[in-house]
Amino acid sequence: MIKDKVIIITGASSGIGEATARLLASKGGKVVLGARRIDKLKHIAEDIGAAGGQAVYQELDVTNPAHSKAIVALAQESFGRVDAIFLNAGIMPTSPLSALKVEDWHETVDINITGVLNGVAAILPVFIEQKSGQVLATSSVAGLKAYPGSAVYGGTKWFVRDFMEVLRIESAMEGTNIRATTIYPAAINTELLGSISDAGSAEAMKQLYAQHGISPERIANVIAFAIDAPEDTTINEFTVGPTTQPW
Ligand SMILES: NC(=O)c1ccc[n+]([C@@H]2O[C@H](COP(=O)([O-])OP(=O)(O)OC[C@H]3O[C@@H](n4cnc5c(N)ncnc54)[C@H](OP(=O)(O)O)[C@@H]3O)[C@@H](O)[C@H]2O)c1
Repeated sequence: MIKDKVIIITGASSGIGEATARLLASKGGKVVLGARRIDKLKHIAEDIGAAGGQAVYQELDVTNPAHSKAIVALAQESFGRVDAIFLNAGIMPTSPLSALKVEDWHETVDINITGVLNGVAAILPVFIEQKSGQVLATSSVAGLKAYPGSAVYGGTKWFVRDFMEVLRIESAMEGTNIRATTIYPAAINTELLGSISDAGSAEAMKQLYAQHGISPERIANVIAFAIDAPEDTTINEFTVGPTTQPW
């Protein structure tokens, strides 16, 4: 059931996070939106409210552990509990290693890995205490196989895969009933390509997405399905992408 569930979404200001927030709210979920662009969050939350849904928002930089704790606190203060967290914030500045985009490498690790760790560190005590909860995370098809240009980005998404699987296993062993769901999208039309600083990689990705990209609502539907499943059932992994894309 999605109705009345309190769901935190990181990276909710555009793309997959925004589409998921709008969909979950339309199904009666109480959504808590986090990202750095507060103006965008305000607009999305107002839209949701105008459509009869419930949304609150707060500035969130996932690289800052205090921000992650604060958004969990916002959810509790606003709605009294937390049922799920969608760890979705991410960047994808792909480039060949030979381009030595070292700053991009570190920023990608900080947001895509440390950001996930900060989110889990903030929510785990809550879920352990209530012996229920769901952690969802956005990996990528680049977290399932190696792509040129994706050594670092792909590495962060392989990390998410392993981390989420161990979270699922340990939760089952410890009896905390935490459902762990990882999604592996292929080309989805969002603002993600804006994070690519290497000109050659940006052009190649632009062409790939122009040819194959599908709407972020497709991913939102899968996230909604995973949250909607009965509490005794974990929808563990989903790979989702354009029918035309040969991966
Ligand atoms: N689009 C695809 O083809 C695709 C494929 C596979 C996986 N993914 C993954 O899907 C996730 C969502 O990306 P998207 O495609 O929806 O792209 P997007 O439209 O660029 O959304 C990325 C979101 O992450 C947020 N974000 C970035 N850095 C952040 C930080 N430090 N703290 C908090 N939020 C931050 C952005 O918000 P602010 O800039 O406002 O902070 C934005 O809301 C990412 O993890 C991405 O790797 C996407």
